[in-house]
Amino acid sequence: MIKAVRGMKDILPEEIPLWQKVEETARDVFETYLYHEIRTPILEPTELFSRSIGEATDIVEKEMYTFEDSHQQLSMRPENTAGVVRALIENRLQDLRGSQRYYYIGPMFRRERPQKGRFRQFHQIGVEAFGDAGPYVDAEIIQMLARFFRRLGIDAYEVRINSLGCRSCRPLYIEKLRAAMDAASATLCEDCQRRRDKNPLRVFDCKTDQEQLASFPVITDNLCAACQEHFDGFLSSLKKMAIPSIVYPSLVRGLDYYTRTTFEFVSTSDALGSQNSLLGGGRYDGLVQVLDGPVLCGIGFALGVERLIMALPDVLQEAPLCYYVAHIENEGFARALTLAERLRDHGVAVAVGNPLKAIKAQFKEADKMGATTVFVIGPDEAKQGVVTIKDMKTGEQRSVPESEVMADITERA
Ligand code: HAM
Repeated sequence: MIKAVRGMKDILPEEIPLWQKVEETARDVFETYLYHEIRTPILEPTELFSRSIGEATDIVEKEMYTFEDSHQQLSMRPENTAGVVRALIENRLQDLRGSQRYYYIGPMFRRERPQKGRFRQFHQIGVEAFGDAGPYVDAEIIQMLARFFRRLGIDAYEVRINSLGCRSCRPLYIEKLRAAMDAASATLCEDCQRRRDKNPLRVFDCKTDQEQLASFPVITDNLCAACQEHFDGFLSSLKKMAIPSIVYPSLVRGLDYYTRTTFEFVSTSDALGSQNSLLGGGRYDGLVQVLDGPVLCGIGFALGVERLIMALPDVLQEAPLCYYVAHIENEGFARALTLAERLRDHGVAVAVGNPLKAIKAQFKEADKMGATTVFVIGPDEAKQGVVTIKDMKTGEQRSVPESEVMADITERA
């Protein structure tokens, strides 16, 4: 049997309503904040990712699906900030009128070790906003996310925020951090020894050296005046919006393009296990230039759809209503066809029983399909112009005039 690739899974029809609900809610909410959808290719030149995400990151070092095509190295996108920035520069979107705010929905690929909530093909919904130096827009993005979560009924999460400083204060901080690492080097784990030279900020991701980490200098105590002012503005905007957040100086993120604001929404429900980061994002003010574009600041986030769906409350996970019309004899079948079409005109999902099957077999089929309500039109119903409506959960039956079926089910939905 040919099986799906490890870490990549099918999204089956029964799960689709949840995916659609999440995607529709994202479109609805993000568009009210003037974000517009953009769709970019899944394959991009490898260099796009190595230059933006950073050569020394796990993603670029070991997680990308890369191959050569006509002497060019291509990679399947591990994330989409780089792709959106490339599209912005290539299509000169920054010269257009209107807001440069984009959102995207689609699959991403990372060759990570699969586990609960972590896949090799996963889906992100993300946004990128260009040209606004903040810090108000930084807070507005958090506000938009809080609205999105509220709409989905998710409240078990924590908003973690940080500032990573800028090109002038971060190098000074990193020197301090390296000095602290050197002083503690005898007790640091091998991974951290390696991080010291390659990517010292990532030392804060270490699970084994927690004790030493507590004594290391933190970035939020080492911001320059401009970054401090920006961070204070971010905090005070969040306060005005009444959004609780927690400052996490160790929130360093796994991509190198960030400057100043970074944030994550972490699930506090048990449903997710250790992969509890629902989304992550931040500001990347130098990235457009790094990719040969104009001077243009940016900020965005991406959320993992698989993880978000795991965090959804059970009410949202209930199967949608589904209707079935069972019928007897020719007259019943003709009326069943008319009734089904009338219901579909109103957007109701309805199946018509197979006319080659007896009524009992039709009921069995309705049950197998998960029909919540069955309409029955037999010779008596046809004569009287009524429909018998059976609630499949409770077994209750009622007789309703054909013309009132739509009103009846709307009232009970
Ligand atoms: P990221 O933190 O690498 O950021 O990913 C964002 C989210 O994608 C994570 O919080 C998680 O929910 C989900 N995710 C990441 N890897 C996996 C995986 N292997 N399996 C399942 N879900 C996963 C970015 O990708 C940035 N581009 C975000 C951004 C946009 N920053 C600015 N703009």
